Amino acid sequence: MPTPALTTTSDGFLLHGEPFRIISGAMHYFRVHPDQWADRLRKARLMGLNTVETYVPWNLHQPEPGTLALDGILDLPRYLRLAKAEGLHVLLRPGPFICAEWDGGGLPSWLTTDPDIRLRSSDPRFTGAIDRYLDLLLPPLLPYLAESGGPVIAVQVENEYGAYGDDTAYLEHLAESLRSRGIGELLFTCDQANPEHLAAGSLPGVLTTGTFGSKVAQSLEQLRAHQPEGPLMCAEFWIGWFDHWGEEHHTRDAADAAADLDLLLSAGASVNIYMFHGGTNFAFTNGANHDHAYQPMVTSYDYDAALTENGDPGPKYHAFREVIARHAPVPDEPVPAPSVKLPPTVVELGQRSPLLPNVGLLAKPVRTEDPVTMDELGLRAGYVLYRTTAPLAGDGLLHFAGGVGDRAQVFVDGAPVGVLERERHDESLPVRIPSAGAAVEVLVENMGGVNYGPRIGSPKGLLGAVTFNGTALHGWDSHPLTLDDLSALPFAPSDATPAAQPAFYRGTFEVVTPADTFLSLPGWTKGQAWINGFHLGRYWNRGPQRTLYVPAPVLRRGANDLLLLELTATTSAQALLTSAPDLGPVKP
Ligand code: GLA
Repeated sequence: MPTPALTTTSDGFLLHGEPFRIISGAMHYFRVHPDQWADRLRKARLMGLNTVETYVPWNLHQPEPGTLALDGILDLPRYLRLAKAEGLHVLLRPGPFICAEWDGGGLPSWLTTDPDIRLRSSDPRFTGAIDRYLDLLLPPLLPYLAESGGPVIAVQVENEYGAYGDDTAYLEHLAESLRSRGIGELLFTCDQANPEHLAAGSLPGVLTTGTFGSKVAQSLEQLRAHQPEGPLMCAEFWIGWFDHWGEEHHTRDAADAAADLDLLLSAGASVNIYMFHGGTNFAFTNGANHDHAYQPMVTSYDYDAALTENGDPGPKYHAFREVIARHAPVPDEPVPAPSVKLPPTVVELGQRSPLLPNVGLLAKPVRTEDPVTMDELGLRAGYVLYRTTAPLAGDGLLHFAGGVGDRAQVFVDGAPVGVLERERHDESLPVRIPSAGAAVEVLVENMGGVNYGPRIGSPKGLLGAVTFNGTALHGWDSHPLTLDDLSALPFAPSDATPAAQPAFYRGTFEVVTPADTFLSLPGWTKGQAWINGFHLGRYWNRGPQRTLYVPAPVLRRGANDLLLLELTATTSAQALLTSAPDLGPVKP
């Protein structure tokens, strides 16, 4: 095996034999529109970064076993070429688990559907699936390793494994899987900077790095105590944070983060700023926490990062650039100005198409006696409409054994009768069934797969039997709704169709010059938004996030289409495109 480009000494790195300090920033290509990658990478270099870091999301790259998606927003080779063209090195974190507030922490749901597989362990069913994935993923990436003249100088093994398990044989297997498939570059692990995590997540012969956002001196000490020799590196220097629905928006003071960055660099450490540029959880890609309760992530992954979600330098960009300039050369070029935004625009959503009567146009039903989960239906993300009939009439309790994953809207004879939320541990709903044989419909939304802790891979949809006053409901038609092709929907003027029902709404708007904008939906409740077929993601008036980022490349000159799936009801027939984001009230 050739010598890796990046090597370690007793207290630092050498790159091609020369002393080198990694000053990196995280930016996940899969959270940024591909037409904006070059812009964001240039801004990374101009802030003074010499390296960018990215995870690789297994669930998107391998939507089905045996496949590999490597195009569009998943064109990692192109991202690596653009980084190289900008003169940036790359730290690659291929997981297989990536956490990252990403659906399932990046583990594909076709894999996690099998409840017997011991995830993130040396269970051969798990490592076998990883190896078959790496067989496909790694060959197209090998030309981008530094030893072949490419930008990738180091590759991470797993992710904060010490917070999850202690199966060293599994970590060894991963390192060997990378090595044997041609990864000769430096390998590293990362763990939260405490002795237990560092011990459980490290691998002899592989560099240990830490993840922390404050207590810099203490964290570096922990790292040093664990690894007496070698470079000190903070692989995730948390300079902001993510948001859950229903919480306040998290921010961190720029001066405070900059002071800690200065401490890190003054201590001679290498750093990866998490995040340099957070981007967006487009479509159905957000993850969730589940500690005591289920807490799904919002659509924005702004993270209060150095570059805002829409790629403008924020206060941290300027503060970090100043700090970096004290320790390393920073390009003598002007700091990029904020982008021009689209002028405020009103969009009339005059066309409506109710979901429940049209669901057969979007999916073929699967008939089962008892309810099945989304996972059993082979659905990775989205919604399922479950339909059956009530066996008896009366007032009583509709009970969902095991609850729902993650939010269920219940309809009796087409009328909304209530909502159950996993967040609230709901399992039953009082309902009136007017007559035996009444239609019972349950629209269940997957709000994002848990990405941290032991509940990764927990199932979605209806999770057990459904009973009415103790009598089981049988004979279910389940419609798996991926919502990736909505062209079959018939639309009619909104005022001619009944409201207060889940429905698609459509409208067009004119654009003179495409530019970044933010979709604001006052009066709307909860749902999904698309512009010109690009799935922007989930909106919800629960907040904190109030606007959805619309990247300029999604727009075109002339007529543009806005499509919403509104799950509940709207008091407005308009949407607004505004010139500033609103990520909600800040956590004090
Ligand atoms: C950990 C994980 C990251 C991310 C951050 C929080 O450090 O390694 O993937 O989840 O926490 O943003």
